[in-house]
Amino acid sequence: MPAGVTPGDAAGVGVRVDRFLDRVRDRVRDRVRDRVRDRVRDPVRDRVREALGRGPVLVVAHAHVLRVLAAYWLALPLQQGSAFPVQVGHLCVLSNEHDLATIALWNAPPPVSRRDPAALPRAAGTPQRSRAPPGARGDTLVSRGDPARARTTRRTSPMTTQDKRADMLVHQQEPYNAEPPLGALAGAPLTDVATFYSRNHGPVPDLDPRTWRLVVDGLVQRSLELSLGDLRERFAEHTLPATLQCAGNRRSGLIAERDIPGEAPWRGGATSTATWTGVRLADVLAAAGLSDDAAHVCFEAPDVSDIPSPPQPYSVSVPVAKATSTEVLLAWGMNGEPLTPLHGAPLRVVVPGWIGARSVKWLTRVTAAVEPSPGHFQATAYRLLPPGADPATATDADGPQLGPVALNCEVLFPAEGARVEVGPTTVTGYAYAGEDRRVVRVDVSVDAGATWREADLDAGGGPWTWQHWRLSVDLDAGEVEVVARAWDSTGALQPERAADLWNPKGYVNNSWAHARLRVG
Ligand code: MTE
Repeated sequence: MPAGVTPGDAAGVGVRVDRFLDRVRDRVRDRVRDRVRDRVRDPVRDRVREALGRGPVLVVAHAHVLRVLAAYWLALPLQQGSAFPVQVGHLCVLSNEHDLATIALWNAPPPVSRRDPAALPRAAGTPQRSRAPPGARGDTLVSRGDPARARTTRRTSPMTTQDKRADMLVHQQEPYNAEPPLGALAGAPLTDVATFYSRNHGPVPDLDPRTWRLVVDGLVQRSLELSLGDLRERFAEHTLPATLQCAGNRRSGLIAERDIPGEAPWRGGATSTATWTGVRLADVLAAAGLSDDAAHVCFEAPDVSDIPSPPQPYSVSVPVAKATSTEVLLAWGMNGEPLTPLHGAPLRVVVPGWIGARSVKWLTRVTAAVEPSPGHFQATAYRLLPPGADPATATDADGPQLGPVALNCEVLFPAEGARVEVGPTTVTGYAYAGEDRRVVRVDVSVDAGATWREADLDAGGGPWTWQHWRLSVDLDAGEVEVVARAWDSTGALQPERAADLWNPKGYVNNSWAHARLRVG
Protein backbone atom coordinates (compact mmCIF):
# COMPACT_ATOMS: atom_id res chain seq x y z
CA MET A 1 0.00 0.00 0.00
CA PRO A 2 1.59 3.33 -0.99
CA ALA A 3 2.30 6.04 1.53
CA GLY A 4 -0.63 8.33 2.16
CA VAL A 5 -3.31 5.76 1.39
CA THR A 6 -5.61 4.87 4.22
CA PRO A 7 -7.37 1.74 3.21
CA GLY A 8 -11.03 1.67 4.14
CA ASP A 9 -13.01 -1.47 4.67
CA ALA A 10 -13.40 -1.67 0.93
CA ALA A 11 -9.67 -2.03 0.35
CA GLY A 12 -8.75 -5.31 -1.21
CA VAL A 13 -12.14 -5.89 -2.76
CA GLY A 14 -11.39 -7.56 -6.04
CA VAL A 15 -13.32 -9.23 -8.78
CA ARG A 16 -12.27 -10.85 -11.98
CA VAL A 17 -12.91 -7.97 -14.36
CA ASP A 18 -13.42 -10.14 -17.38
CA ARG A 19 -16.09 -12.28 -15.69
CA PHE A 20 -17.65 -9.26 -14.10
CA LEU A 21 -17.84 -7.53 -17.46
CA ASP A 22 -19.37 -10.54 -19.14
CA ARG A 23 -22.04 -10.54 -16.51
CA VAL A 24 -23.09 -6.93 -16.71
CA ARG A 25 -21.91 -5.39 -19.96
CA ASP A 26 -24.78 -6.56 -22.13
CA ARG A 27 -27.30 -5.41 -19.61
CA VAL A 28 -25.64 -2.01 -19.36
CA ARG A 29 -25.36 -1.65 -23.11
CA ASP A 30 -29.04 -2.43 -23.43
CA ARG A 31 -29.64 0.57 -21.20
CA VAL A 32 -31.43 -1.34 -18.49
CA ARG A 33 -28.98 -0.27 -15.88
CA ASP A 34 -31.70 1.08 -13.62
CA ARG A 35 -33.44 -2.24 -13.52
CA VAL A 36 -30.13 -4.00 -12.97
CA ARG A 37 -29.35 -1.66 -10.12
CA ASP A 38 -32.66 -2.29 -8.45
CA ARG A 39 -33.03 -6.01 -8.91
CA VAL A 40 -29.59 -7.54 -8.75
CA ARG A 41 -27.78 -7.63 -5.46
CA ASP A 42 -24.07 -7.46 -6.04
CA PRO A 43 -21.85 -7.67 -2.98
CA VAL A 44 -19.04 -5.71 -4.60
CA ARG A 45 -21.38 -2.93 -5.64
CA ASP A 46 -22.85 -2.79 -2.18
CA ARG A 47 -19.41 -2.41 -0.64
CA VAL A 48 -18.50 0.32 -3.11
CA ARG A 49 -21.63 2.23 -2.26
CA GLU A 50 -21.02 1.79 1.43
CA ALA A 51 -17.45 3.03 0.96
CA LEU A 52 -18.69 6.00 -1.06
CA GLY A 53 -20.91 6.96 1.80
CA ARG A 54 -17.79 7.46 3.91
CA GLY A 55 -15.92 9.63 1.40
CA PRO A 56 -14.11 9.48 -1.90
CA VAL A 57 -13.02 6.13 -3.22
CA LEU A 58 -10.18 5.42 -5.56
CA VAL A 59 -11.02 2.75 -8.09
CA VAL A 60 -8.20 1.30 -10.14
CA ALA A 61 -9.36 -0.21 -13.37
CA HIS A 62 -9.19 0.01 -17.12
CA ALA A 63 -11.15 2.85 -18.75
CA HIS A 64 -13.81 0.65 -20.28
CA VAL A 65 -14.23 -1.12 -16.96
CA LEU A 66 -14.82 2.25 -15.33
CA ARG A 67 -17.47 3.02 -17.87
CA VAL A 68 -19.35 -0.07 -16.83
CA LEU A 69 -18.70 0.50 -13.15
CA ALA A 70 -19.95 4.04 -13.34
CA ALA A 71 -23.19 2.98 -14.90
CA TYR A 72 -23.67 -0.09 -12.80
CA TRP A 73 -22.53 0.89 -9.36
CA LEU A 74 -22.93 4.59 -9.27
CA ALA A 75 -25.80 5.05 -11.71
CA LEU A 76 -23.86 7.70 -13.56
CA PRO A 77 -24.54 8.17 -17.26
CA LEU A 78 -22.58 5.87 -19.54
CA GLN A 79 -19.57 7.72 -20.83
CA GLN A 80 -16.12 6.80 -21.84
CA GLY A 81 -13.29 8.04 -19.72
CA SER A 82 -13.14 8.74 -16.10
CA ALA A 83 -13.47 12.35 -15.00
CA PHE A 84 -16.29 11.66 -12.60
CA PRO A 85 -17.43 14.17 -10.02
CA VAL A 86 -15.25 14.17 -6.92
CA GLN A 87 -18.21 14.27 -4.59
CA VAL A 88 -19.21 10.89 -5.94
CA GLY A 89 -15.76 9.36 -5.80
CA HIS A 90 -12.35 9.48 -7.35
CA LEU A 91 -12.17 7.04 -10.19
CA CYS A 92 -8.64 6.70 -11.47
CA VAL A 93 -7.28 4.74 -14.37
CA LEU A 94 -3.82 3.42 -13.69
CA SER A 95 -3.47 0.94 -16.44
CA ASN A 96 -4.22 0.69 -20.10
CA GLU A 97 -4.09 -3.07 -20.08
CA HIS A 98 -7.09 -5.05 -21.26
CA ASP A 99 -6.31 -7.97 -19.02
CA LEU A 100 -6.21 -6.13 -15.72
CA ALA A 101 -7.66 -8.75 -13.42
CA THR A 102 -8.73 -6.89 -10.34
CA ILE A 103 -10.43 -3.71 -9.36
CA ALA A 104 -8.86 -2.20 -6.29
CA LEU A 105 -10.66 0.24 -4.05
CA TRP A 106 -9.20 2.65 -1.56
CA ASN A 107 -11.40 4.68 0.70
CA ALA A 108 -9.20 7.72 0.20
CA PRO A 109 -8.63 10.55 -2.24
CA PRO A 110 -5.96 10.07 -4.91
CA PRO A 111 -3.09 9.36 -2.59
CA VAL A 112 -0.07 11.00 -4.16
CA SER A 113 0.87 14.01 -6.23
CA ARG A 114 -0.63 13.88 -9.70
CA ARG A 115 2.69 15.08 -10.96
CA ASP A 116 4.17 11.70 -10.27
CA PRO A 117 2.04 8.99 -11.84
CA ALA A 118 4.72 6.40 -11.17
CA ALA A 119 4.11 6.78 -7.44
CA LEU A 120 0.43 5.90 -7.69
CA PRO A 121 -0.71 2.62 -6.16
CA ARG A 122 -0.95 -0.44 -8.30
CA ALA A 123 -3.73 -2.97 -8.11
CA ALA A 124 -2.75 -6.59 -7.70
CA GLY A 125 -1.67 -7.74 -11.12
CA THR A 126 -1.49 -4.22 -12.52
CA PRO A 127 1.46 -3.88 -14.87
CA GLN A 128 4.22 -1.39 -14.04
CA ARG A 129 3.14 1.00 -16.76
CA SER A 130 0.83 3.50 -15.22
CA ARG A 131 -1.19 6.57 -16.03
CA ALA A 132 -1.87 9.76 -14.21
CA PRO A 133 -5.33 9.90 -12.67
CA PRO A 134 -7.67 11.51 -15.17
CA GLY A 135 -9.91 12.91 -12.48
CA ALA A 136 -7.39 15.62 -11.64
CA ARG A 137 -9.02 18.97 -11.12
CA GLY A 138 -8.30 22.38 -12.59
CA ASP A 139 -5.29 23.13 -14.70
CA THR A 140 -3.03 20.53 -13.14
CA LEU A 141 0.06 20.09 -15.24
CA VAL A 142 0.40 16.72 -16.85
CA SER A 143 4.00 15.82 -16.37
CA ARG A 144 4.98 13.08 -18.75
CA GLY A 145 7.91 12.52 -21.05
CA ASP A 146 9.81 15.59 -22.14
CA PRO A 147 9.44 18.18 -19.36
CA ALA A 148 9.56 21.03 -21.89
CA ARG A 149 6.50 19.53 -23.52
CA ALA A 150 4.76 18.93 -20.23
CA ARG A 151 4.94 22.63 -19.51
CA THR A 152 2.72 23.31 -22.50
CA THR A 153 0.28 20.46 -21.89
CA ARG A 154 -2.60 21.15 -19.58
CA ARG A 155 -5.84 19.43 -18.91
CA THR A 156 -8.50 20.80 -21.25
CA SER A 157 -9.86 23.86 -19.51
CA PRO A 158 -13.60 24.51 -19.67
CA MET A 159 -12.71 27.74 -21.52
CA THR A 160 -11.50 25.62 -24.41
CA THR A 161 -14.82 23.87 -24.87
CA GLN A 162 -17.22 26.62 -23.87
CA ASP A 163 -17.78 27.73 -27.46
CA LYS A 164 -19.38 24.35 -28.24
CA ARG A 165 -23.17 24.16 -28.43
CA ALA A 166 -24.86 23.03 -25.24
CA ASP A 167 -26.42 19.96 -26.82
CA MET A 168 -23.17 18.39 -28.02
CA LEU A 169 -23.12 14.66 -27.39
CA VAL A 170 -20.04 14.51 -25.18
CA HIS A 171 -18.48 11.05 -25.29
CA GLN A 172 -15.66 12.09 -23.02
CA GLN A 173 -14.97 15.27 -21.12
CA GLU A 174 -11.23 14.77 -20.66
CA PRO A 175 -9.83 14.52 -23.22
CA TYR A 176 -12.77 16.26 -24.85
CA ASN A 177 -14.53 14.14 -27.46
CA ALA A 178 -17.89 15.33 -28.68
CA GLU A 179 -20.17 15.41 -31.72
CA PRO A 180 -23.24 17.50 -32.52
CA PRO A 181 -26.74 16.04 -32.68
CA LEU A 182 -27.27 14.93 -36.27
CA GLY A 183 -30.03 17.47 -36.88
CA ALA A 184 -27.55 20.29 -36.20
CA LEU A 185 -25.60 19.31 -39.34
CA ALA A 186 -28.70 19.23 -41.53
CA GLY A 187 -28.98 21.84 -44.25
CA ALA A 188 -25.62 23.44 -43.44
CA PRO A 189 -22.91 22.94 -46.07
CA LEU A 190 -20.45 24.57 -43.65
CA THR A 191 -20.39 23.59 -40.00
CA ASP A 192 -20.00 26.45 -37.55
CA VAL A 193 -17.27 26.10 -34.95
CA ALA A 194 -19.81 25.63 -32.15
CA THR A 195 -21.20 22.59 -33.95
CA PHE A 196 -17.97 21.10 -35.41
CA TYR A 197 -17.13 17.73 -33.80
CA SER A 198 -13.97 17.50 -31.73
CA ARG A 199 -11.71 14.47 -31.37
CA ASN A 200 -8.78 14.52 -28.97
CA HIS A 201 -6.44 11.86 -27.63
CA GLY A 202 -4.94 14.01 -24.89
CA PRO A 203 -5.36 17.37 -23.18
CA VAL A 204 -5.42 20.51 -25.33
CA PRO A 205 -1.93 22.07 -25.24
CA ASP A 206 -1.55 25.63 -24.04
CA LEU A 207 0.51 27.19 -26.84
CA ASP A 208 1.47 30.85 -27.02
CA PRO A 209 1.25 31.93 -30.70
CA ARG A 210 3.95 34.54 -30.07
CA THR A 211 6.60 32.01 -29.07
CA TRP A 212 5.24 29.05 -31.04
CA ARG A 213 7.48 27.90 -33.93
CA LEU A 214 7.11 25.29 -36.65
CA VAL A 215 10.25 23.22 -37.31
CA VAL A 216 10.62 21.63 -40.75
CA ASP A 217 13.43 19.07 -40.84
CA GLY A 218 14.44 15.51 -41.75
CA LEU A 219 15.18 14.71 -45.39
CA VAL A 220 15.30 18.33 -46.55
CA GLN A 221 18.14 20.43 -47.87
CA ARG A 222 17.70 23.10 -45.20
CA SER A 223 15.81 22.89 -41.94
CA LEU A 224 13.39 25.73 -41.27
CA GLU A 225 12.06 27.30 -38.11
CA LEU A 226 9.01 29.40 -38.89
CA SER A 227 6.85 31.71 -36.81
CA LEU A 228 3.24 32.41 -37.76
CA GLY A 229 4.45 35.73 -39.20
CA ASP A 230 7.04 33.92 -41.34
CA LEU A 231 4.37 31.60 -42.73
CA ARG A 232 2.11 34.51 -43.60
CA GLU A 233 4.88 36.58 -45.19
CA ARG A 234 6.83 33.94 -47.08
CA PHE A 235 4.03 31.83 -48.57
CA ALA A 236 0.84 32.45 -50.55
CA GLU A 237 -2.37 32.21 -48.55
CA HIS A 238 -5.06 29.75 -49.65
CA THR A 239 -8.60 29.07 -48.43
CA LEU A 240 -10.25 25.73 -49.07
CA PRO A 241 -13.54 24.18 -47.94
CA ALA A 242 -12.86 20.66 -46.70
CA THR A 243 -14.70 18.00 -44.73
CA LEU A 244 -13.03 16.26 -41.80
CA GLN A 245 -14.31 12.82 -40.89
CA CYS A 246 -13.06 10.75 -38.00
CA ALA A 247 -12.28 7.11 -38.80
CA GLY A 248 -14.54 6.22 -35.84
CA ASN A 249 -17.53 8.06 -37.33
CA ARG A 250 -20.68 5.90 -36.98
CA ARG A 251 -18.88 3.40 -34.72
CA SER A 252 -22.12 3.05 -32.74
CA GLY A 253 -23.45 0.97 -35.64
CA LEU A 254 -20.58 -1.48 -35.22
CA ILE A 255 -20.98 -1.55 -31.44
CA ALA A 256 -24.63 -2.48 -31.95
CA GLU A 257 -23.35 -5.62 -33.69
CA ARG A 258 -20.71 -6.43 -31.07
CA ASP A 259 -19.23 -4.37 -28.26
CA ILE A 260 -15.97 -2.48 -28.76
CA PRO A 261 -14.74 -1.82 -25.22
CA GLY A 262 -12.82 1.38 -24.59
CA GLU A 263 -13.90 3.13 -27.80
CA ALA A 264 -16.40 5.99 -27.97
CA PRO A 265 -19.72 5.16 -29.63
CA TRP A 266 -19.57 7.96 -32.20
CA ARG A 267 -22.70 8.42 -34.23
CA GLY A 268 -22.63 10.04 -37.67
CA GLY A 269 -21.71 13.45 -36.26
CA ALA A 270 -17.94 12.90 -36.23
CA THR A 271 -18.00 14.57 -39.64
CA SER A 272 -18.01 18.32 -40.24
CA THR A 273 -17.00 20.80 -42.91
CA ALA A 274 -15.23 24.17 -42.64
CA THR A 275 -13.25 26.52 -44.81
CA TRP A 276 -9.60 26.36 -43.85
CA THR A 277 -7.14 29.21 -44.40
CA GLY A 278 -3.38 28.90 -44.40
CA VAL A 279 -0.49 27.98 -46.65
CA ARG A 280 0.17 24.93 -48.75
CA LEU A 281 2.36 22.33 -47.06
CA ALA A 282 3.80 21.73 -50.54
CA ASP A 283 5.12 25.32 -50.65
CA VAL A 284 6.76 25.00 -47.23
CA LEU A 285 8.35 21.68 -48.15
CA ALA A 286 9.60 23.18 -51.42
CA ALA A 287 11.21 26.03 -49.45
CA ALA A 288 12.99 23.46 -47.30
CA GLY A 289 14.06 21.50 -50.39
CA LEU A 290 12.49 18.06 -50.07
CA SER A 291 15.02 15.29 -50.73
CA ASP A 292 14.31 12.59 -53.32
CA ASP A 293 14.63 9.94 -50.60
CA ALA A 294 11.69 11.33 -48.65
CA ALA A 295 8.69 9.01 -48.93
CA HIS A 296 6.62 10.21 -45.96
CA VAL A 297 6.02 13.50 -44.17
CA CYS A 298 5.57 13.18 -40.39
CA PHE A 299 3.62 15.65 -38.26
CA GLU A 300 4.26 16.13 -34.55
CA ALA A 301 2.24 17.91 -31.90
CA PRO A 302 2.88 18.46 -28.19
CA ASP A 303 -0.36 16.99 -26.80
CA VAL A 304 0.57 13.90 -24.80
CA SER A 305 -1.84 10.98 -24.95
CA ASP A 306 -1.88 8.29 -22.30
CA ILE A 307 -3.59 5.83 -24.64
CA PRO A 308 -0.22 4.37 -25.69
CA SER A 309 1.90 2.90 -22.95
CA PRO A 310 4.10 4.70 -22.09
CA PRO A 311 2.24 7.94 -22.97
CA GLN A 312 3.48 9.81 -26.03
CA PRO A 313 2.85 13.00 -28.02
CA TYR A 314 0.55 12.84 -31.03
CA SER A 315 2.44 12.06 -34.22
CA VAL A 316 1.30 10.67 -37.58
CA SER A 317 2.32 10.94 -41.23
CA VAL A 318 1.11 10.97 -44.82
CA PRO A 319 2.95 9.80 -47.94
CA VAL A 320 4.91 12.48 -49.81
CA ALA A 321 2.51 12.35 -52.77
CA LYS A 322 -0.37 13.49 -50.53
CA ALA A 323 1.76 15.92 -48.51
CA THR A 324 2.82 17.76 -51.66
CA SER A 325 -0.62 17.91 -53.23
CA THR A 326 -2.17 21.34 -53.54
CA GLU A 327 -5.07 20.60 -51.16
CA VAL A 328 -3.01 19.92 -48.02
CA LEU A 329 -2.86 23.09 -45.92
CA LEU A 330 -1.09 24.33 -42.83
CA ALA A 331 -4.08 26.24 -41.54
CA TRP A 332 -4.43 29.03 -38.99
CA GLY A 333 -8.01 29.96 -39.94
CA MET A 334 -11.33 28.11 -39.76
CA ASN A 335 -14.51 29.56 -41.28
CA GLY A 336 -12.79 32.94 -41.64
CA GLU A 337 -11.79 33.18 -37.96
CA PRO A 338 -8.54 32.28 -36.20
CA LEU A 339 -8.42 28.60 -35.22
CA THR A 340 -9.67 27.99 -31.69
CA PRO A 341 -7.41 26.13 -29.24
CA LEU A 342 -9.68 23.06 -29.39
CA HIS A 343 -9.34 22.85 -33.18
CA GLY A 344 -5.57 23.21 -33.24
CA ALA A 345 -4.43 26.82 -32.73
CA PRO A 346 -2.10 28.24 -33.63
CA LEU A 347 -1.58 25.93 -36.65
CA ARG A 348 -2.93 22.59 -37.81
CA VAL A 349 -2.54 20.41 -40.85
CA VAL A 350 -5.64 19.84 -42.95
CA VAL A 351 -5.42 16.73 -45.13
CA PRO A 352 -8.62 16.84 -47.20
CA GLY A 353 -10.09 13.47 -48.19
CA TRP A 354 -8.13 11.52 -45.56
CA ILE A 355 -9.24 10.31 -42.16
CA GLY A 356 -9.32 13.13 -39.62
CA ALA A 357 -6.48 11.53 -37.64
CA ARG A 358 -3.97 12.78 -40.23
CA SER A 359 -5.07 16.42 -39.84
CA VAL A 360 -2.74 17.11 -36.91
CA LYS A 361 -3.67 19.94 -34.56
CA TRP A 362 -1.17 22.11 -32.64
CA LEU A 363 1.47 21.29 -35.23
CA THR A 364 5.06 21.95 -34.09
CA ARG A 365 7.21 19.78 -36.36
CA VAL A 366 7.11 18.53 -39.95
CA THR A 367 9.74 15.89 -40.70
CA ALA A 368 10.45 14.35 -44.09
CA ALA A 369 11.38 10.68 -43.71
CA VAL A 370 11.82 7.38 -45.51
CA GLU A 371 9.32 5.55 -43.27
CA PRO A 372 5.87 6.49 -41.95
CA SER A 373 5.74 8.02 -38.46
CA PRO A 374 6.59 5.51 -35.72
CA GLY A 375 4.05 7.28 -33.47
CA HIS A 376 1.34 5.15 -31.88
CA PHE A 377 -1.48 6.80 -33.85
CA GLN A 378 0.20 5.88 -37.13
CA ALA A 379 2.07 2.67 -36.35
CA THR A 380 -0.52 0.96 -34.13
CA ALA A 381 -3.87 2.75 -34.03
CA TYR A 382 -5.93 3.72 -37.10
CA ARG A 383 -5.41 0.39 -38.82
CA LEU A 384 -8.19 -1.72 -40.26
CA LEU A 385 -7.81 -5.02 -38.43
CA PRO A 386 -9.50 -8.39 -38.83
CA PRO A 387 -11.85 -9.34 -35.96
CA GLY A 388 -9.32 -11.55 -34.16
CA ALA A 389 -6.38 -9.11 -34.17
CA ASP A 390 -5.03 -7.44 -31.02
CA PRO A 391 -5.27 -3.67 -31.57
CA ALA A 392 -2.67 -2.98 -28.86
CA THR A 393 0.14 -4.60 -30.85
CA ALA A 394 -1.04 -4.17 -34.46
CA THR A 395 1.56 -3.87 -37.23
CA ASP A 396 1.55 -3.93 -41.03
CA ALA A 397 1.16 -7.70 -40.84
CA ASP A 398 -2.19 -7.34 -39.07
CA GLY A 399 -3.90 -4.75 -41.26
CA PRO A 400 -3.40 -1.61 -43.33
CA GLN A 401 -2.98 1.91 -41.98
CA LEU A 402 -6.05 3.98 -42.82
CA GLY A 403 -5.67 6.90 -45.22
CA PRO A 404 -8.31 8.06 -47.71
CA VAL A 405 -11.85 8.22 -46.33
CA ALA A 406 -14.29 5.53 -47.54
CA LEU A 407 -17.59 6.41 -49.23
CA ASN A 408 -20.17 7.05 -46.52
CA CYS A 409 -23.52 8.69 -45.80
CA GLU A 410 -25.83 9.56 -42.93
CA VAL A 411 -29.47 10.53 -42.44
CA LEU A 412 -29.49 13.88 -40.64
CA PHE A 413 -33.19 14.74 -40.55
CA PRO A 414 -35.45 13.35 -39.25
CA ALA A 415 -32.82 11.65 -37.13
CA GLU A 416 -32.92 8.18 -35.63
CA GLY A 417 -35.70 7.87 -33.04
CA ALA A 418 -37.54 11.05 -34.09
CA ARG A 419 -41.32 11.35 -33.99
CA VAL A 420 -42.78 12.91 -37.16
CA GLU A 421 -46.24 13.71 -38.39
CA VAL A 422 -48.12 11.67 -40.96
CA GLY A 423 -47.81 13.13 -44.48
CA PRO A 424 -45.05 14.88 -46.43
CA THR A 425 -41.57 15.18 -44.87
CA THR A 426 -38.24 16.07 -46.41
CA VAL A 427 -35.57 13.56 -45.46
CA THR A 428 -32.06 15.04 -45.60
CA GLY A 429 -28.53 13.87 -45.02
CA TYR A 430 -24.91 14.03 -46.06
CA ALA A 431 -22.83 11.78 -48.28
CA TYR A 432 -19.05 11.94 -48.55
CA ALA A 433 -16.86 10.04 -50.96
CA GLY A 434 -13.39 10.87 -49.61
CA GLU A 435 -10.08 11.58 -51.38
CA ASP A 436 -10.66 12.72 -54.99
CA ARG A 437 -13.92 10.82 -55.47
CA ARG A 438 -17.35 12.48 -55.61
CA VAL A 439 -20.76 11.22 -54.64
CA VAL A 440 -22.82 10.77 -57.82
CA ARG A 441 -26.05 9.29 -56.47
CA VAL A 442 -27.91 8.76 -53.21
CA ASP A 443 -30.83 6.34 -52.89
CA VAL A 444 -33.37 6.63 -50.10
CA SER A 445 -35.87 4.04 -48.93
CA VAL A 446 -38.70 4.61 -46.46
CA ASP A 447 -39.67 0.94 -46.31
CA ALA A 448 -36.49 -0.53 -44.79
CA GLY A 449 -34.83 -1.05 -48.17
CA ALA A 450 -37.68 -2.77 -50.05
CA THR A 451 -37.98 0.08 -52.61
CA TRP A 452 -35.68 3.04 -53.38
CA ARG A 453 -35.91 6.56 -54.83
CA GLU A 454 -33.07 8.78 -55.90
CA ALA A 455 -32.50 11.87 -53.71
CA ASP A 456 -31.59 15.37 -54.94
CA LEU A 457 -27.87 15.82 -54.43
CA ASP A 458 -25.91 19.07 -53.86
CA ALA A 459 -22.74 19.73 -55.79
CA GLY A 460 -20.96 20.37 -52.47
CA GLY A 461 -18.57 23.15 -51.63
CA GLY A 462 -15.75 22.00 -53.91
CA PRO A 463 -13.80 18.82 -54.56
CA TRP A 464 -12.99 18.16 -50.88
CA THR A 465 -16.36 18.42 -49.17
CA TRP A 466 -19.34 16.32 -48.32
CA GLN A 467 -22.50 16.68 -50.39
CA HIS A 468 -25.92 17.11 -48.85
CA TRP A 469 -29.01 15.35 -50.24
CA ARG A 470 -32.75 15.58 -49.72
CA LEU A 471 -35.91 13.75 -50.73
CA SER A 472 -39.57 14.59 -50.12
CA VAL A 473 -41.47 11.54 -48.93
CA ASP A 474 -45.01 10.83 -47.77
CA LEU A 475 -45.05 8.92 -44.52
CA ASP A 476 -47.88 6.72 -43.25
CA ALA A 477 -48.56 6.23 -39.55
CA GLY A 478 -46.48 3.64 -37.75
CA GLU A 479 -42.83 2.67 -37.46
CA VAL A 480 -40.86 3.77 -40.52
CA GLU A 481 -37.30 2.77 -41.27
CA VAL A 482 -35.47 5.24 -43.52
CA VAL A 483 -32.42 3.80 -45.26
CA ALA A 484 -29.90 5.76 -47.36
CA ARG A 485 -27.00 4.57 -49.50
CA ALA A 486 -24.52 6.47 -51.67
CA TRP A 487 -22.69 5.70 -54.89
CA ASP A 488 -19.40 7.35 -55.87
CA SER A 489 -17.73 8.44 -59.09
CA THR A 490 -15.93 5.09 -59.39
CA GLY A 491 -19.31 3.32 -59.46
CA ALA A 492 -18.86 1.95 -55.94
CA LEU A 493 -21.88 1.53 -53.64
CA GLN A 494 -21.66 1.52 -49.84
CA PRO A 495 -21.74 -1.94 -48.25
CA GLU A 496 -25.12 -2.90 -46.83
CA ARG A 497 -24.44 -4.44 -43.43
CA ALA A 498 -22.45 -3.13 -40.48
CA ALA A 499 -21.99 -6.74 -39.32
CA ASP A 500 -19.71 -7.37 -42.31
CA LEU A 501 -17.53 -4.40 -41.37
CA TRP A 502 -17.02 -5.04 -37.64
CA ASN A 503 -13.38 -4.60 -36.62
CA PRO A 504 -11.68 -4.45 -33.20
CA LYS A 505 -11.16 -0.66 -33.18
CA GLY A 506 -14.50 0.16 -34.77
CA TYR A 507 -13.26 2.15 -37.73
CA VAL A 508 -14.86 2.85 -41.12
CA ASN A 509 -18.47 1.93 -40.56
CA ASN A 510 -19.67 2.95 -44.00
CA SER A 511 -22.65 0.63 -44.15
CA TRP A 512 -26.03 1.94 -45.31
CA ALA A 513 -27.46 4.57 -42.97
CA HIS A 514 -30.66 3.85 -41.04
CA ALA A 515 -33.08 6.08 -39.15
CA ARG A 516 -36.04 4.51 -37.40
CA LEU A 517 -38.91 6.99 -37.07
CA ARG A 518 -42.26 6.97 -35.29
CA VAL A 519 -44.85 8.49 -37.57
CA GLY A 520 -48.14 9.81 -36.21
N1 MTE B 1 -4.09 16.23 -33.61
C1 MTE B 1 -3.53 16.15 -32.39
N2 MTE B 1 -2.40 16.84 -32.14
N3 MTE B 1 -4.08 15.39 -31.42
C2 MTE B 1 -5.23 14.66 -31.64
O1 MTE B 1 -5.72 13.97 -30.73
N4 MTE B 1 -6.96 14.01 -33.26
C3 MTE B 1 -7.12 13.72 -34.68
C4 MTE B 1 -6.93 14.99 -35.51
N5 MTE B 1 -5.75 15.69 -35.12
C5 MTE B 1 -5.82 14.72 -32.92
C6 MTE B 1 -5.22 15.56 -33.88
C7 MTE B 1 -8.39 13.15 -35.03
S1 MTE B 1 -8.55 11.49 -34.74
C8 MTE B 1 -9.36 13.84 -35.67
S2 MTE B 1 -10.75 13.06 -36.24
C9 MTE B 1 -9.25 15.28 -35.90
O2 MTE B 1 -8.06 15.81 -35.32
C10 MTE B 1 -10.41 16.01 -35.28
O3 MTE B 1 -10.25 17.37 -35.46
P1 MTE B 1 -11.18 18.38 -34.67
O4 MTE B 1 -11.07 18.07 -33.21
O5 MTE B 1 -10.71 19.74 -35.03
O6 MTE B 1 -12.58 18.13 -35.16
